[in-house]
Amino acid sequence: MSLTQQYSNYTEENHTVWAILFQRQIENLPGKAIPAFFKGLELVKFKPDRIPNFEEVNQILKPLTGFEVVPAPGIVDDAVFFSLIANKKFPATVWIRTMDQLDYLEEPDMFHDVFGHVPLLTIPVYCDFLAALSAMALEHVDRPDVIDKLTRIYWYTIEFGLFREPGAKAAIYGAGILSSVGESKLSVSEESIKYDFNVDHILDTSYVKETYQSQYFCIESFEQLLESLPKIGRAIAALRQQLEEV
Ligand SMILES: [Fe+2]
Repeated sequence: MSLTQQYSNYTEENHTVWAILFQRQIENLPGKAIPAFFKGLELVKFKPDRIPNFEEVNQILKPLTGFEVVPAPGIVDDAVFFSLIANKKFPATVWIRTMDQLDYLEEPDMFHDVFGHVPLLTIPVYCDFLAALSAMALEHVDRPDVIDKLTRIYWYTIEFGLFREPGAKAAIYGAGILSSVGESKLSVSEESIKYDFNVDHILDTSYVKETYQSQYFCIESFEQLLESLPKIGRAIAALRQQLEEV
């Protein structure tokens, strides 16, 4: 991908938008997001008032987990997306929303991609799951119907996952929630439906893109995600076989 982050092209308004969104979530997320998110945020050294420079972020990230952030033009197709992530390259958009779009976006911008995703990319076991799930998806990119199902796992974990240790209250690790002020409040409140993480249940559950989720799945640990990969692989292989027989 030849696109680069032209850092000097960011305007003061761009940096101000980052600063507003960053400050708002820094105040909002304590007590809602998992401690590992805050630890990751500290490790990657984002500045509150400046858009992160991908080169600087990668110098920190790569030695920790092998992952790096690569600039992407926006939403990339499934084959490109999963192939990048399977190779530990996380595609992130370089544009940031404008001042009048603070709360509503049709597609993810760099505040979502960078603030929401990158701190978690400091966690080895999370990264192992993410890369392996993407490698699995890559094997099925010729079958959009299979990818649709597999994407549900990605959606209900990486994007909208919650964490709930026994006896504790739910906490956020999904990037789509971490970058949304409204959904970060709703997802961990009493008002949302929370299920325990279950591969078959997730594969049977569609999701919405345009509004907040109506339900969430809670893991107890990132190891649980990693350990679920063989089960996901078996379920997806069975699904593919079923679909090919039709
Ligand atoms: Fe995302």
